[in-house]
Amino acid sequence: MSTLLIHSLKGLAIGHARRINGKSMADLPMLESGAFILIENGRIKKTGPASECPERADRVIDGTGRYLLPAWVDSHTHLVFAGSREREFVDRIRGLSYQEIAARGGGILNSAARLRGMAEDALYQDALERLEEVTASGTGAIEIKSGYGLSTEAELKILRVIRRLKEDSQIPIRATFLGAHSVPTEYKENREAYIRLIEEEMLPRIQAEGLADYMDVFCEKVAFSVEETERLIEAGYKAGLKPKIHVNQFYAMGGIPMACRRKAVSVDHLEVINEADIEALQQSETIATLLPTAPFFLNDPYPEARRMLDADIPVALATDFNPGSTPGGRMSFVLSLACIKMRMLPAEAINAATINGAAALEWDAELGSLHTGKWANMILTKKIPSIDYIPYRFGRDQIERVFVKGEM
Ligand code: NIG
Ligand code: FE
Repeated sequence: MSTLLIHSLKGLAIGHARRINGKSMADLPMLESGAFILIENGRIKKTGPASECPERADRVIDGTGRYLLPAWVDSHTHLVFAGSREREFVDRIRGLSYQEIAARGGGILNSAARLRGMAEDALYQDALERLEEVTASGTGAIEIKSGYGLSTEAELKILRVIRRLKEDSQIPIRATFLGAHSVPTEYKENREAYIRLIEEEMLPRIQAEGLADYMDVFCEKVAFSVEETERLIEAGYKAGLKPKIHVNQFYAMGGIPMACRRKAVSVDHLEVINEADIEALQQSETIATLLPTAPFFLNDPYPEARRMLDADIPVALATDFNPGSTPGGRMSFVLSLACIKMRMLPAEAINAATINGAAALEWDAELGSLHTGKWANMILTKKIPSIDYIPYRFGRDQIERVFVKGEM
């Protein structure tokens, strides 16, 4: 048995036990001035005020002047990829749009071509480095998608890399199969054949090897239609995978009501949204996952977070770390953008990046807040004046230490 005590904290952001809806998100339950937390074998044993603080533990940390909060749960990333796409970045500066670049065979297809030529081991090493980078900036649980393979072998290669990351890394990881990220070049004239490849070859093999936890589809004009997405969701369910869907990044095509009806765990992006989408989300359990670093990087409009929160929709925040629309995985910058560009309050942004991120991975019983029994995945801040200082001081992590299952 190993115990860790952090005492004399300026603030202990315990957070909510489970997922919360939009209207409750401005409330961040917190113990102040002198609070302590006791960790035993990687899980939270007890929290409380200074007067109840235990006298000893195997390891003791003085939290004076510092805040403790749940580590970020980044519920949407494409962390396994090959190379980089700064040439497209420059093309966009010169005036081409993301969609024009995609239509020319750049974008996702560019990344897929590179990934197919890269050995599994090299992919693993690069991804591990990125994982370590984001963990150091406070991410304590993460989702990683495939989707830059677009052939059976390459998609399985990515999913095996994710499995290795799950085995080797301390941080909890969920794997999502995104074979339906784009129609690959060789199927451009025969989309039906690619969809059947996903249904008849990829999904059965993924299921047989137990390689994925969720199924994703990019529902968009440049990718898959609402009808195709629904068909692929159905195929995912048959292979035991619940849906998490990329939707409404550029166009509102009816994908959100369909995904809500098909009980998607989350719908992600939502840069554009209409009243029917809002109503569908209100009537479902589906979480709205917003990815503000993607519109930041692509110079697109930001999601209307206020409208969703005021409609009591549960909102999560994630990075979307990928080589095309978000070459970065820093959650604190996502929080700053959410506050500055989407008018989320700091407490709303913290809830969205912790407990609701965990809920978007169906992990809110284990992670995302500092309640007794949960994994001790936590951020100990530097000495800061208040917790609102975290998104305020953009571009810099206010982190002294990150704990994953009680270990630094
Ligand atoms: O979530 N929009 C779809 N997929 C990724 C970007 C893919 C890429 O450009 O490589 C996203 O933004
Ligand atoms: Fe994405």
